Amino acid sequence: MISKFPWWIRVPLLFFIIWGLLEYFIDAGDSLAIIKYPVTQFFLLMVLLILIAIEAILKSVENVMFQTLSEEAKARYLQTKNKKVEWTWGKNLFKKLTKSRAIEQEGEIILDHNYDGIRELDNVLPPWWVYMFYATIVFGLIYLVRFHIASDYTQAEEYDMEVAEARIAIEEYKKTAKDLVDVNSVELLTDASDLNAGKKIFTTNCVVCHMADGGGGIGPNLTDEYWILGGGIKNVFNTISEGGRDGKGMVAWKNSLKPSEMAQVASYLLQFQGTTAANPKAPEGEIWVDPNAPEIKEEPEANSGETYETDAADLVEETKE
Ligand code: HEC
Repeated sequence: MISKFPWWIRVPLLFFIIWGLLEYFIDAGDSLAIIKYPVTQFFLLMVLLILIAIEAILKSVENVMFQTLSEEAKARYLQTKNKKVEWTWGKNLFKKLTKSRAIEQEGEIILDHNYDGIRELDNVLPPWWVYMFYATIVFGLIYLVRFHIASDYTQAEEYDMEVAEARIAIEEYKKTAKDLVDVNSVELLTDASDLNAGKKIFTTNCVVCHMADGGGGIGPNLTDEYWILGGGIKNVFNTISEGGRDGKGMVAWKNSLKPSEMAQVASYLLQFQGTTAANPKAPEGEIWVDPNAPEIKEEPEANSGETYETDAADLVEETKE
């Protein structure tokens, strides 16, 4: 097959196939392997030279062989070599699908009438068009049976199905794209894996100033309900991302931690809330109340239950009277 192509197609074709394979098998991230690993450029250059060398060798072998042939054999050789690739099946198929008449045969199908010199040919409908028309009929029948007789599903159901599928896809996407979180979308993480990851980040980066149990040192106590910069996952995420007040020592971590990591460490350190540190630093800042927390109902008085009972008893007695 390959010998049917002339050498000037064969060499570049093989070259690009080898290059393609090389790019496919060498993982170079976003860039090309030949840019990331310059040694591969050398490799490809070698490949090119070898391909050209093979062509040259083949050519001369053929030449030598040709010279040894008799005159008659030479003629036969040239004849087979110059035979063109025939696309007979393609041509036949085209003929079958169009059924067009060659211009020389048009006389056979020309119609009698003559409108100001315009004459009409009695061509058959081109089979490609007729087949397509049949296909639409089959489609229409299946559609009719499926949706008007068997009532497979309605458009509304189809819509709901697709929306449900899309929802699942979005959930999947969010799982793999955790780094999309920012201050507005961050939520308290509760998965053990996230909290463990958060613990690791805390231990490597934060313990020096906040202590392993969050008791505080250079940084403030993270176990109490007092916050300088606001509590709750969103404020804490923001503090970690943007840093504390100037000159206090809490740097912005957004350049060294990924958003997902900041969410993890923020969720982890919020677990210190309500624990008692071994060596707690005095509270700093103010008590932070979550503005979004569901309203806490006023504690009912200790004896309120009894009051109701007495009330009810009173009522019963009143009605008796
Ligand atoms: C170099 C010491 C230091 C390191 C390291 C450090 N912090 Fe801080 N952190 C501070 C100081 C100081 C403050 C108080 C900032 C202020 O007053 O504005 C603070 C404040 C905070 C606050 C806000 C506390 C509040 O009361 O509002 C949080 C949350 C926090 N740090 C989390 C972290 C996390 C998470 C890390 C690790 C990724 C970390 N810090 C690393 C020194 C540090």
